[in-house]
Amino acid sequence: MPYSIRPLVASDVPACILFWRETEGLVIRKESDGPESIERFLNRNPGMSFVAEDQGEIVGAVLCGHDGRRGYVYHLAVRADHRRARCATALVDAAWQALKAEGITRCHAYVRARNLTAMKFWDQYDAELRRDIDVVSFKLA
Ligand SMILES: CC(C)(COP(=O)(O)OP(=O)(O)OC[C@H]1O[C@@H](n2cnc3c(N)ncnc32)[C@H](O)[C@@H]1OP(=O)(O)O)[C@@H](O)C(=O)NCCC(=O)NCCS
Repeated sequence: MPYSIRPLVASDVPACILFWRETEGLVIRKESDGPESIERFLNRNPGMSFVAEDQGEIVGAVLCGHDGRRGYVYHLAVRADHRRARCATALVDAAWQALKAEGITRCHAYVRARNLTAMKFWDQYDAELRRDIDVVSFKLA
């Protein structure tokens, strides 16, 4: 299961969106996960998101960015046939190096409720499951 890690660039966006849509355990929304939104995110956070590639195919991806205070990790996914080969770890490590280079030292990841595999993954970073906050979402009129 060889793979290499490289930055996620605009030309990867359509393939990544398809890949994320096919992956269980993620929340992919029409309005915020279309190509324009993802490209805008990449432009605001250049060089912080990564893909894993095997023979020219995307087998893993992560979106990462920051708002000046905190880092955010979204849509971390690895294709089923490449799992348990430290691929997600390599993607997150690459994203964190990029965050650290920007002086960001704390990061949030959104995890779908009851995604136990994801929680086991984040355990290795001693990540804290926040029980003191709920996330509310609303549309701007
Ligand atoms: C969660 C996910 C990204 C992990 O990808 P991965 O490349 O298999 O993860 P890694 O190989 O880097 O795993 C690192 C460690 O996490 C833990 N881990 C990962 N998957 C696990 C599983 N299914 N069960 C138990 N522990 C697991 C293990 O401690 C593992 O280390 P080990 O293999 O040496 O024991 C992958 O399962 C996936 O794409 N799931 C569907 C999408 C998803 O849920 N994304 C999470 C969004 S927050």
